Amino acid sequence: MNQSHSPAWEAIETASRDELNALQLERLKQTLKLAYDKVPHYREAFEQSGVTPESLQDLESLSNFPFTLKQDLRKNYPFGMFAVPREEVLRIHASSGTTGQPTVVGYTRKDVDTWAHVMARTIWACGGRPGDLAHVAYGYGLFTGGLGAHYGAEKLGCTVIPVSGGLTERQVRLIHDFQPALIMVTPSYLLALAEEFDRQELDARDSSLRIGICGAEPWTPSMRKEIEDRFQMQCLDIYGLSEVIGPGVSSECIEEKDGLYIWEDHFYPEIIDPQTGEVLPDGEAGELVITSLTKEAFPIIRYRTRDLTRLLPGKNRTMRRMEKVTGRSDDMMIVRGVNVFPTQIEEILLEDSRLSPNYMIELSREGALDAMTVLCEPRESELSAEVSEDIVNSLVSHIKNRIGVTAMVRVEPQGGIERSAGKARRIVDKRPKN
Ligand code: DLL
Repeated sequence: MNQSHSPAWEAIETASRDELNALQLERLKQTLKLAYDKVPHYREAFEQSGVTPESLQDLESLSNFPFTLKQDLRKNYPFGMFAVPREEVLRIHASSGTTGQPTVVGYTRKDVDTWAHVMARTIWACGGRPGDLAHVAYGYGLFTGGLGAHYGAEKLGCTVIPVSGGLTERQVRLIHDFQPALIMVTPSYLLALAEEFDRQELDARDSSLRIGICGAEPWTPSMRKEIEDRFQMQCLDIYGLSEVIGPGVSSECIEEKDGLYIWEDHFYPEIIDPQTGEVLPDGEAGELVITSLTKEAFPIIRYRTRDLTRLLPGKNRTMRRMEKVTGRSDDMMIVRGVNVFPTQIEEILLEDSRLSPNYMIELSREGALDAMTVLCEPRESELSAEVSEDIVNSLVSHIKNRIGVTAMVRVEPQGGIERSAGKARRIVDKRPKN
């Protein structure tokens, strides 16, 4: 493989593994000490597990430390997990949380800078360059997408257009008028923008957009291809979560587009068996657990992300890659004993050229059993009853053969499936609450 790369890569991206591990160990020690000294929750949790920061001898011994769960953050709502006086916190973000309390996170001035730094590295890895116009259509506000993208793009030296999500018609006009090269947006909303180009009778392939920097939700390789074809652009996958920092935890690179490089000098990854909590070797699939290495206001130790992936060795960079996240354990549906992720349905739907990539999954209860209905939508507005029936039959059989579950399928009128300006809602749960 061609190892030559741009001088704008940071030295640490191609440092030796030993050098990287030494840096991680040093930073991990500092982070454990900060958490133990300053956050009562961590002190108690460490004591219960019989560890102190000094128990960390090497990177492997991190596995002796307790996990942090979303409910730990909720219990300490709103500011109980901060490791610095509130006055030193420069910024607050929160994840909306579909159920219960939002999760609140904080950043010192240095944290805001670290975040901008890892996002600038991310945008560079995706092919963005100083001077590029960057249209940011991630939501601004408590969600980390908009401001994370914004600060990173500014740090890299892009010209930032802070549009946020929504007002879809205006988004297309701004892209047409300002001619951005980069767009930072959820994949589902980028698809909604492609539809709006069509509606305005503009050819999305003629747009100035060169690179889409997409994340915040699971999306399949087929969805990537669909969006890339419609815009004639490259789309890259970026990953992150507010509890860890926001976007900027890991990113694909334009040279490979094959797995997301984890910025391991700032975030230490582990993969565990979600049932037993046991750490799994690289290459095995399980739940991603992350420990921050450089954060001040909100150090996070062994956070269980619920995201399912595996760790892969680096290629052009030393840092390890994670496989594209295909789902969260929270989004896994169990239909008649079979585990199903929305992305498995997405993969099948996108193979049928008669269908648009918009879909939703309705869960209901039939007697004692859970039932699943896949709502899909045709690409063409006119659909004969015959074709519609054929779509239903073919999807039912593909879903049965490939996933092993019997689903119902309903073809909605064109445009009948809800579009979202941020993260798409794929599952509607109509089961009665016990
Ligand atoms: O979604 C941060 C982000 C913003 C990432 C913009 C990328 C781009 P949260 O709202 O806290 O933060 O949601 C985090 O979203 O645990 C995953 O389940 C999911 N997620 C994020 N990126 C991806 C991705 C932001 N590339 C949660 N693929 C995470 C699959 C993703 N899922």
